[in-house]
Amino acid sequence: MTQPDEPILEVRDLKIEFSTEEGLLPVLHGLSYTLSKGRVLAVVGESGSGKTVHALSILRLLPPTAHISGGEIRYKGKNLATLSRAELRKIRGNKISMIFQDPAASLNPVLTIGEQLTETLLAHRKMSKEAARARAAELLEKVGIADAEKRLREYPFQFSGGMCQRVMIAMALALEPDVLVADEPTTALDVTVQAQILKLIKQLQRQSGMSAVFITHNLAVVAGIADDVLVLYAGQCMEQAPAAELFARPLHPYTQGLLSSLAPVHEKVDILPVIKGHPPVPGQLPKGCSFAPRCPYATDKCRQERPPLFEENGRFTRCWLREGK
Ligand SMILES: Nc1ncnc2c1ncn2[C@@H]1O[C@H](COP(=O)(O)OP(=O)(O)OP(=O)(O)O)[C@@H](O)[C@H]1O
Ligand SMILES: [Mg+2]
Repeated sequence: MTQPDEPILEVRDLKIEFSTEEGLLPVLHGLSYTLSKGRVLAVVGESGSGKTVHALSILRLLPPTAHISGGEIRYKGKNLATLSRAELRKIRGNKISMIFQDPAASLNPVLTIGEQLTETLLAHRKMSKEAARARAAELLEKVGIADAEKRLREYPFQFSGGMCQRVMIAMALALEPDVLVADEPTTALDVTVQAQILKLIKQLQRQSGMSAVFITHNLAVVAGIADDVLVLYAGQCMEQAPAAELFARPLHPYTQGLLSSLAPVHEKVDILPVIKGHPPVPGQLPKGCSFAPRCPYATDKCRQERPPLFEENGRFTRCWLREGK
């Protein structure tokens, strides 16, 4: 049994790079966080910030051109980066499972929903086909799909995008994992369905006491779901804080900008600047703080020296403005 606050997943100084024709391209520059039992950590960042490569690296699902060039990913103390393939297979789906952005692409079009769900169950659990079928129906009902018996006999093309995502969630939760890694699970869905799916994930996570890493480019999505938020920018953590504190008082100018772009126009105030420009291209990070070229408060020091993460009352901010606070 694990205790509350016990670390389940610990990412330590994780570095990832791609091998390209131009040479090695670092895309993640020393990411660290601890996910405790029953907590939801949201990883938020603009497109290209490294959210997906970080998620894929947890279960060693990176494409062949990418590799972990440093650091550790520990699941209950075991380093996943050096675990044997056989041991990793026991963890994949069973202890740590993933849901991705495009549910339709993740389902097999030539197998029925029932075949796919029972296959997952039978691959990891000693149970009869009948028991697996009954459990599959139970899972579909749990994720809000009515008439489960009939639905199990249908194919993915007979399901809407939102329903496919519900099936993916059922599949991810089938083996009662300790950790769910969800990479933009609602981005492909329309807004109403998005809200329903988020509510469902949160409800199932609470019921089971599982931990989750929830990845999104949209800070608004995070508000109702996350306990903690990590803001990623150009492969580095810029700010990490309990969600309520981050929303009430964002410390990093980048987080302030992200929040400002969400605020209704009449609530926008001068202290929250909207971010102009684009993130740096991998391999071409500026010398100092990688956000300095877009930061309204940047000083010469920001442009020259890379800031460390400063800690204040359990929050972390990579910004020279927080030095000595
Ligand atoms: N096959 C590849 N070869 C070279 N660079 C890559 C490759 N795949 C991704 N990258 C680079 O790695 C960086 C991180 O990509 P990643 O997909 O993790 O971003 P992301 O934060 O998930 O973005 P998005 O919000 O668009 O999903 C990006 O700069 C991207 O250009
Ligand atoms: Mg991504």
